[in-house]
Amino acid sequence: MSDSAGYDAAYARWRDDPDAWWLQAAHGIDWITAPTRAFDAGLGVYGRWFPDGVLNTCHNAIDRHVAAGRGDQVAYLWDSPMTGRKASVTYAALLGRVERLAGAMASRGVGKGDRVVIYMPMVPEAAIGMLACARLGAVHSVVFGGFAAPELAARIADAKPALVLSASCGLEPGRTIAYKPLLDAAIAQSPHKPTTCIILQRDTLPADLTPGRDFDWLTTEAAATPHPCVPVAATDPLYILYTSGTTGAPKGILRDNGGHAVALHNSMAMLYGLKAGDVMWTASDVGWVVGHSYIVYAPLFAGMTSVIYEGKPVGTPDAGAFWRVCAEHKVSALFTAPTAIRAIKKEDPEGALIARYDLSALGALFLAGERCDPPTALWIEALLGKPVIDHWWQTETGWAITGNFRGLGLFPMRAGSGGKAAPGYEVAALDEAGHPVAPGEIGTLAIRLPMPPAALPTLYNADARFRSAYLERFPGWYDTSDAGMVDEQGYVWVMSRTDDIINVAGHRLSTGAIEEVLASHPDVAECAVIGVHDALKGQAPMGLVILKAGVARDEAEIARELVALVRARIGPVAAFKDARVVARLPKTRSGKILRGTMRKIADGEAYAVPPTIDDPAILAELEQLLKT
Ligand code: COA
Ligand code: AMP
Repeated sequence: MSDSAGYDAAYARWRDDPDAWWLQAAHGIDWITAPTRAFDAGLGVYGRWFPDGVLNTCHNAIDRHVAAGRGDQVAYLWDSPMTGRKASVTYAALLGRVERLAGAMASRGVGKGDRVVIYMPMVPEAAIGMLACARLGAVHSVVFGGFAAPELAARIADAKPALVLSASCGLEPGRTIAYKPLLDAAIAQSPHKPTTCIILQRDTLPADLTPGRDFDWLTTEAAATPHPCVPVAATDPLYILYTSGTTGAPKGILRDNGGHAVALHNSMAMLYGLKAGDVMWTASDVGWVVGHSYIVYAPLFAGMTSVIYEGKPVGTPDAGAFWRVCAEHKVSALFTAPTAIRAIKKEDPEGALIARYDLSALGALFLAGERCDPPTALWIEALLGKPVIDHWWQTETGWAITGNFRGLGLFPMRAGSGGKAAPGYEVAALDEAGHPVAPGEIGTLAIRLPMPPAALPTLYNADARFRSAYLERFPGWYDTSDAGMVDEQGYVWVMSRTDDIINVAGHRLSTGAIEEVLASHPDVAECAVIGVHDALKGQAPMGLVILKAGVARDEAEIARELVALVRARIGPVAAFKDARVVARLPKTRSGKILRGTMRKIADGEAYAVPPTIDDPAILAELEQLLKT
């Protein structure tokens, strides 16, 4: 079926009675106490889902499948071109490892509600660590490996973990990243000091363990007593995931247990069209929300096999890597970011490597993390001959806000659109006054409250920041900070962010945070960071700095120092390579830097001279400079 009848009917069913819809979806989950009510508007900031439900997330991911006879099925399939190794972990083996690791953590004092920071490369132990936390009712906070020590320190300081799970190293093409020195530096910088670290020693680069604080993962796990699942309230937190906010301080997105399990389990059939026994491969990283949801949790909620891939789309060893993994492991659904497809397209424009592999098991390609440019979507769709589904989401929502729904019968795709609102979401483009604009007109994309299950109920320890960042601008709505439109047929088109967030290779970065780092350089008087168009990564950060009066040092040298500073403070993930010294920055008469105009100039787009500009001559100066 390629029309919207299935989708329309499902969306109408949700709209007619959201509580009934979600209570029905809750049947997909094993409860210790089944919820009798879907939603309580009187709890929390805007209400809470499944207020009287009690469950355990780890039980739903592992134990129940072993009990149902899936013990011998592979749960995680690890494929690591970085090490040349592959391994599979069955549901039964996974249970054995998770219950022991949970036991090891419990014997070191980790209990329900305690936080555990996880700083790991793409190995099965990253997922094992997350599930062991869920088993104990402990709250994990995974930090992406591409962040430097100060970012890790900021997260440790905020989450105050009792324990840290980490590894001796991560592997990037051409270099080995020693994680332990980064972890040690972060703990030294953080006012909160976790007392225990459990470290996975990897053959490539084992680490020196700090006596009394650090324990070897595998021996600790093997020696531990298995720990049973701890019952938690549906509203108890499962994890905190820090993401970039509009200031340098990251926001701790909170996810609860019940809503998360229900919405993610429901999404596997409804959105991805998958069932128990299928293989899903989400080519992302466990450090991002996409990795949390669709590498670690949702495939297991649905009794599937999930691929954990330690490699890149290109160069490990070539641009056929994705197709090799899909063919070898009979992947039914591949999920990645458009930037990965652009990287493949650049190396293999004719798709010669695609043609080498048997992709008959692959049902569809899902894309998210950034806007997918139509040429990329159309290129890959033509070569694969499978549906290519762009779906829009945020760390905050935990699953797709919009998409196309394989389980409901796909409606026709429109390249450049993220599809239609998922049942569970009412999406509108609002004007400044908070009124929906006419179909096809651009506004701020907003979601009518309440947010669906799995979406954040609040920020960790920061209700006031949650309200001010998301709820106050448009009363009754959640402000996505994305601009775009909803057309006559209900297709949602996400165009750009309305805040200072930029999206670099599907990674979310705050230009404000990069500016804070540049401003800390002793020679910098003032600075601005903008996201300029990048053919591969979508956007790339560019820093423009004004030097303090009297600084007569070599500008190229200063630029190199600025690049190194951002890498040391934020991490390689910032992909900050372009710093330029300028004499002046364009500003309004009230002193606001005109970043939007600068971005247009850098991208060679037409721009209108803002009427409030202090000195229009600066724009011509900038045009000249950015051309070089
Ligand atoms: N640990 C340490 N460093 C890391 C890292 C990690 N887990 N992940 C990335 N980095 C480093 C990279 O090595 C790179 O370092 P470099 O400046 O020395 O080259 C830097 O961070 C920037 O990484 P990235 O922006 O990813 O660029 P890249 O050139 O390494 O790879 C792509 C480009 C497109 C191949 C890559 O971004 C990709 O595969 N993207 C897939 C999209 C994705 O995973 N999105 C997540 C959300 S769905
Ligand atoms: P993150 O929280 O890292 O997942 O980033 C979320 C942001 O990425 C969104 O607010 C959008 O700006 C952007 N984004 C994610 N998916 C899409 C998509 N399919 N289309 C357009 N933008 C997207």
